[in-house]
Parts: sequence; C-alpha cells; structure tokens
Amino acid sequence: MVVQANLARALGQLERQTHAVIEQTIEKGREFAFTSADFERVRKLIYGRAGISLSPSKHEMVYSRLGRRLRTLGLSHFSDYLTLLEDGDAVEWEAFTNSLTTNLTAFFREEHHFPVLAELLQRQKGNGPLSLWCSAASTGEEPYSMAMTAVETFGTLKPPVKIVATDIDTNVLMKARQGVYPMERLEKMSQERIRRFFLRGKGASSGQARVRDELRALIDYRPLNLLDASWSIRGPFHAIFCRNVMIYFDKPTQYRILQKFVPLLHPDGLLFAGHSESFHHAANLFRPRGKTVYEGVAGTHATGR
Ligand SMILES: C[S@@+](CC[C@H](N)C(=O)[O-])C[C@H]1O[C@@H](n2cnc3c(N)ncnc32)[C@H](O)[C@@H]1O
Repeated sequence: MVVQANLARALGQLERQTHAVIEQTIEKGREFAFTSADFERVRKLIYGRAGISLSPSKHEMVYSRLGRRLRTLGLSHFSDYLTLLEDGDAVEWEAFTNSLTTNLTAFFREEHHFPVLAELLQRQKGNGPLSLWCSAASTGEEPYSMAMTAVETFGTLKPPVKIVATDIDTNVLMKARQGVYPMERLEKMSQERIRRFFLRGKGASSGQARVRDELRALIDYRPLNLLDASWSIRGPFHAIFCRNVMIYFDKPTQYRILQKFVPLLHPDGLLFAGHSESFHHAANLFRPRGKTVYEGVAGTHATGR
C-alpha cells in the first residue's frame, strides 16, 4: 500500500514537471508570457464581467486577442496585464471585454424570424407606437433587419416603431451607429432591399454601402450588459430579440436574464432566440410559439399595453 502511494505521488510530480517544461518550451517562442494560470484568470474575469464561459479550447484565441492589448500598453507578461484589470482600470476593462466578445452576425440572419416579426407588427397596427429591443445587436445587421421589416410592413420609411439596440461591446455599437458595410455583407439581400435601404459609396467609399438615414433614425444604440443587476431600459417591448448570445452563458445566468425579460415583454409580445438556444429550462416563464420564438406564460409578463 505504502509503495503504491509513493509511486502515485512520484507519478503526479513527474506529470506536473513535464507539464511545466512543455509550457516553458511553448512560452519561449512567444512574444508574451501566457501561462495556464493566466488563462484561468482571464476565464474567471470575463465570466464575472460578461457571463461569457470560455472553453479551454479558446486559449490561443485569448492569447491573440489580448496580445494586441499588451502590445498597445507595452507589457510583456499577461500576469501584469491581468493585475492591471484586477486593480480596476475602467478603460482597460472596456477594451478587455470588447476583445473577448464574438460578434458574428448577418443581415436577416435566421430569416424565418422576420415574417413572424412582420405579422406581429401587422397585428399591432393602429395600437400606437411599437417598441422593439435587440439585446445583442453586434455591428447592427440585426437591428437594421428589424427596421427594414418594420418599413416594409407599414409601407413607409417612417413607421411608428422604435428600436432599442444594445450590446456590451462598445466597439461594435460604434460600427452599428455608422451603418457602413462592405458590399459583400449585403449579398444575400434582394436587389430591391439594397436599392431601397442603402446608398452605394463612390470614390474612396466604393465597395461600401451606407444604411439610409431614415432607417438609422429608427434605432437608438446603447451599451448594456445583460449580466448587470439592473438595466437602463424601459419596456414594454412588442418583441425582444436575444439571439446567439445566450449560448455564451450557463443555464443559471440564462434563467436570471429570462426572468428580467418577463416584465419588459408586452402581453402580446414575442421573444426571439438563436438557432441553437432553447429556453425549456425556463418553461415557467416562456413557452414556445414556433421555431425559436417564445411568448410569455400568462400572468408573468408585462401588463401595460
Ligand atoms: C454572436 S453575436 C450575435 C449577434 C446577433 N444577435 C445575431 O444573432 O446575429 C453575440 C453578441 O453578444 C454580445 N454580448 C456578449 N456578452 C454580452 C453581455 N453580457 N451583454 C450584452 N451583450 C453581450 C457580443 O458583444 C456580441 O456582439
């Protein structure tokens, strides 16, 4: 028994030493020192700040994205950078968060949602101004798709619709506000939509397109962290788009966010989720109303009409 225990201890030690040697060898070829312990610190910090659960496979992604911050700040060790964050540097916290978000999006992504939104708007015609919330707006393609749907439904560039578009990432919000996109980003849209809603750039701006001002005027962009205890946003909303962001959060975090959506959703409103997101674990709050579309469970949603 004693021999076995000693052997196990020795093997454990050997494993740790081998691991350290491998890590040092990798570090030698790198611009910045980045250990597994540093990576764990990054994971904890971004989880605490934004609710984002980074899987161990994101080690290299973290090195490359945060490496740019170290270069800008003239630091050579991730540990120094992380200490700066832990000391509460507000500017760096924003840059850190912006660096670690994933902003993949597209115009009319998950297209089946937009006819559902159009029907909802159609049903509410004549009921005064309608409010929509896009809660992970990224670079703006999603809120602009909602705005195009509203314009098409009401047949005017000034529909009675207001869209609040939020995201934790302040860089993407800046791009969204500008509303300028490379032409390739528009490729999947019909020529009619492109003609109606975009202005093609000329000269130095050729190859780019700008969203028309009337469309931009329908959207109010604001930073908002879904993880924050209180949100600076007022409902009720006829639609809440919360697509392809919940996948980064664990179930308890998702549930807390869904609970906060409840009083913000209009009694006839709908919640739209991403293709790989399901809210079955919150069946007491929302029930399915089609493919990744949910409605509030009676009695739990907002009462103001
Ligand atoms: C993959 S994009 C999805 C964009 C768009 N909703 C779509 O489906 O095409 C995820 C977005 O969620 C944002 N995000 C991540 N964590 C967030 C948080 N805690 N609060 C608000 N937005 C967050 C990211 O900045 C990113 O722009």
